[in-house]
Amino acid sequence: PRTQDLAGRTVVVSAGGTREPLDPVRFLGNRSSGKQGVALARTAQARGARVTLVAANLAVRPPAGVRVVAVETTAELQDAVRGAAADADVVVMAAAVADFRPAEGAAHKIKKQADGSAPPLALVQNPDVLAGLVADPPRTDGRPQVVVGFAAETGDAEGDVLAHGRAKARRKGADLLAVNAVGAGVGFGTEHNAVTLLDSGGEVVGTVEGSKDAVSDALWDAVVRVLPL
Ligand code: PMT
Repeated sequence: PRTQDLAGRTVVVSAGGTREPLDPVRFLGNRSSGKQGVALARTAQARGARVTLVAANLAVRPPAGVRVVAVETTAELQDAVRGAAADADVVVMAAAVADFRPAEGAAHKIKKQADGSAPPLALVQNPDVLAGLVADPPRTDGRPQVVVGFAAETGDAEGDVLAHGRAKARRKGADLLAVNAVGAGVGFGTEHNAVTLLDSGGEVVGTVEGSKDAVSDALWDAVVRVLPL
């Protein structure tokens, strides 16, 4: 049997990738399958936590027994995460959240232009859900909340991914940031992940490589170490 070190705890996990509509049939999206977030939900539940999974366009089934709130866009994800986080001890943002959305979603399908030109695509910035959880905690009773982010990074040289992750850790201020390399066949959609865990100052507090369940268990170990009683 697994350790029940999250018994009595309420956790929120976001998973999958947000989609921003261009028109009724098209969207801007990303390659997240939701496997890492679903693994986090499954392992937290196995360790005794009450789990809400905010699920953005999952390619995999959510685990039985967790509360699932399905969302599509970043705005919907933000509402669902902040709502569920109001009484949560831990929030883990594993979802791949769109940084930009089309300035206006067209009401009707965008047509080809008669002159053969491409229609313009204006983007606006989305809110940063994770940074908002840190700056303006939704927890209503004032008790501290552990906030965990993921950082999906690419880099040409060994060390680039970690350097980008460290800068992001300091910028976003989450209690823990799980940095993973992503790219073709890496991170997104795979069964395997390799993660470096950073604290809010960008210092390495652990590394783990293996199945997404193994990465999740290492992440919960790190959360339990900083979780207030
Ligand atoms: O779903 P899988 O196929 O299993 O793949 C897993 C994964 C690679 C998607 C996952 O492990 C991962 O890295 N998730 C975070 C992806 C991401 O959006 O990274 P980012 O570096 O762009 O964002 C950093 C953090 O800020 C993330 O916690 C993200 O949820 C959050 N964020 C980002 C943008 C935004 N507007 N709001 C946010 O809250």
